[in-house]
Amino acid sequence: MTPPRSAGAPVVGSALPHESATLHVTGRAAYVDDLPELAGTLHCALGLSPVAHGRLLTIDVDALRREPGVVAVLSAADIPGRNDCGPIEHDDPILADGVLRYLGQPVFAVIAHDREAARRAAAKAKQVLRIEPLPAVLTVREAHAKQDYVVPPMHLARSQSGDGEAGVRRAIAAAPHRLAGQFSLGGQEQFYLEGQIAYALPQDDGGLKVHCSTQHPSEMQAVVAHALGLSANQVLVECRRMGGGFGGKESQSALFACVAALAAKTLNRPVKLRPDRDDDFMVTGRRHGFEFDWEVGFDNEGRVLGYELTLLGHAGHSADLSPPVMTRAICHVDNAYWLPEVAIHGYLPRTNTQSNTAFRGFGGPQGALVTEVVLDTIARHLGRDALDVRRANWYGVDERNATPYRQTVTDNIMAPLVDELATSADHAARREAIARFNAASPVLKKGLALTPVKFGISFNVNHFNQAGALVHVYTDGSVLVNHGGTEMGQGLNTKVAQVVAHELGLPLTRVRCTAADTSKVANTSATAASTGSDLNGKAAQDAARKIRDRLAALAADTLGAPADQLHFANAQVIAPGGATIPFDTLVQKAYQARVQLWSDGFYATPGLHWDRVTLTGRPFYYFAYGAALSEVLLDTLTGEWKLTRADLLHDVGASLNPAIDIGQIEGAFVQGMGWLTTEELVWHPQTGALLTHAPSTYKIPTANDVPDAFTTRLYANRNAEDSIHRSKAVGEPPLLLAFSVFLALRDAVAACGAPRCQPPLSAPATPEALLRAVNAVRGKV
Ligand code: MTE
Ligand code: MOS
Repeated sequence: MTPPRSAGAPVVGSALPHESATLHVTGRAAYVDDLPELAGTLHCALGLSPVAHGRLLTIDVDALRREPGVVAVLSAADIPGRNDCGPIEHDDPILADGVLRYLGQPVFAVIAHDREAARRAAAKAKQVLRIEPLPAVLTVREAHAKQDYVVPPMHLARSQSGDGEAGVRRAIAAAPHRLAGQFSLGGQEQFYLEGQIAYALPQDDGGLKVHCSTQHPSEMQAVVAHALGLSANQVLVECRRMGGGFGGKESQSALFACVAALAAKTLNRPVKLRPDRDDDFMVTGRRHGFEFDWEVGFDNEGRVLGYELTLLGHAGHSADLSPPVMTRAICHVDNAYWLPEVAIHGYLPRTNTQSNTAFRGFGGPQGALVTEVVLDTIARHLGRDALDVRRANWYGVDERNATPYRQTVTDNIMAPLVDELATSADHAARREAIARFNAASPVLKKGLALTPVKFGISFNVNHFNQAGALVHVYTDGSVLVNHGGTEMGQGLNTKVAQVVAHELGLPLTRVRCTAADTSKVANTSATAASTGSDLNGKAAQDAARKIRDRLAALAADTLGAPADQLHFANAQVIAPGGATIPFDTLVQKAYQARVQLWSDGFYATPGLHWDRVTLTGRPFYYFAYGAALSEVLLDTLTGEWKLTRADLLHDVGASLNPAIDIGQIEGAFVQGMGWLTTEELVWHPQTGALLTHAPSTYKIPTANDVPDAFTTRLYANRNAEDSIHRSKAVGEPPLLLAFSVFLALRDAVAACGAPRCQPPLSAPATPEALLRAVNAVRGKV
């Protein structure tokens, strides 16, 4: 039977507010730390390694136990199961086991009557640990020279000649022009406003319930079970919402969940673990900084004829999610461009620093940015406009459309999207106006850049592309939805509720989403890779459709019309002749007739395949596109600058909720701008201590950094693939729009030097870095 249509409901596609908007702005939205504490709750703090590398000889546990308020001290020896919380390689100890791998690594846990007592005792780490120091490796280049990697290197080559790398090198050598260079890109702290936290509650039957701020409840359930020697059905993990995750709570919530669970299980008391911001910085990893070596051959128009690129991704002390981050980086080196001859090498050097992890874009931004810098370099070398060089390299529509990893780009809208933005934001005229301004302005210089984004949507690991949902219709006609995704502010619950409301023809107020909960939907994937609404929206739609079909069959009898011609809209079921039955009445009748009013739903993204050895296949269901034009004003005497105008045009297919999507685009753009400009991570070159571990030394953007002239528009489009209501994922792709800010700054610096100069500017482009680059192009060192 073809499903009855839900007509007339404007819920999907409407700019409705986030389901918790009022709670967020009034401060009433409850996060894990806001849950009322059970009587007898104890508090935990982590004792951290004071050295970057060393052998752990002893821990003076007795001294710690004598500290006021301390109830217990736990170390690796107290873990009954596996001392590991690594998501892939299982090389991530929960508490240090023999070897200290980085400064900040958790070595022991202090459990005390209150949080302050636990922290005071844990801060004695330096006094109670006996350590034999070992030499530390702190930089990626140093680790690369020693060939010490967390996983084996990855290589991908494609040459039209059929001879792989050798063919690519021949193509570069034969090109009319050749350039080579290096580029360095810093990491980025997630700086979720709500820090990492877990609150573990022992259950009467030996099981555990863990409230955890996590993007991946099922993974938390698995690691807690393994660490404690429990089975998965004895561990329940719940997350109502996060105050931001940004990738930082995909795998790295695990250590906190495991330690809180270990303490709760050992002491049979509720235990909460909430590190403060500095410890959160010192313990957890973040976006990978990258170092790149590149060589490119090109023609007079700037068309890339051959490209060889080496990526060094700063993994840190363990693998964590570094392998898939590198895979995504490699799969985004092409960004929007046809690279006929291309060789890519990815290395993940191991260092004695925090283990880096997911962060919005998951390696994609790093892979794509270097190519944008290379194209900018080509344009300056040839004395051509950078946008013209980009246009010369677009993927084609029917040809020149195979990615380096062999997926064909079939939904390419890059050229029309960029043309629309260039016209609406007046690119050509502003380019000329800026050249005139700069010619007459020796101190203040303006810069302009228009950069594109093409971002692949799906998890590269095939089996993660699945989701489940559970939808209940109660006898009063209200609807409760549980799905496998987590809410971190991105509006996933709102979108999933909109999808369900649409299927059942109800206003959004009748549909509520509950906390993510491993006892409701099992074996969920991380809410990550921007796939939350694609996967969970489809799963919830599937569940709602099953209920609707049962209701339609019943309504068909009552209304005397075929079930497949009934419309569910305006809280009614409407027959073609105009006869109606209110939804609530129908639900009552269904209950009386013993019709099942709740259902599960499931979705698996079709058509994906991926070979992780050859790095080829179809990893992405579709691509999301976008472009941004940014203009900056740079003070060349101080390095201070301002983003004066930004115009963003982004493709979300047919938007499920334009208000939420525009919020995601603006937020991602500003977050990306922070990464590439103000957010600088500094480790002490000898001790390996992270020196930038609080907002006093680590500068994230604020509302004041948003330009006065800021326009964000959604590109009129529908997903060519059968995604949920033909929408596209929006969480990560627009972060790459911030490339335009970095390249506008490079443009402003270039205006200080001779024509065709190449500003030596790496990221982040802090005022110091900008000043150095200005002085370099001016010939002053
Ligand atoms: N938006 C908010 N407000 N807070 C967040 O933590 N995380 C981003 C993005 N947008 C994030 C956010 C990241 S890293 C991802 S992968 C997606 O949201 C995840 O959610 P989605 O798949 O539902 O878009
Ligand atoms: Mo997002 S980095 O995939 O959590």
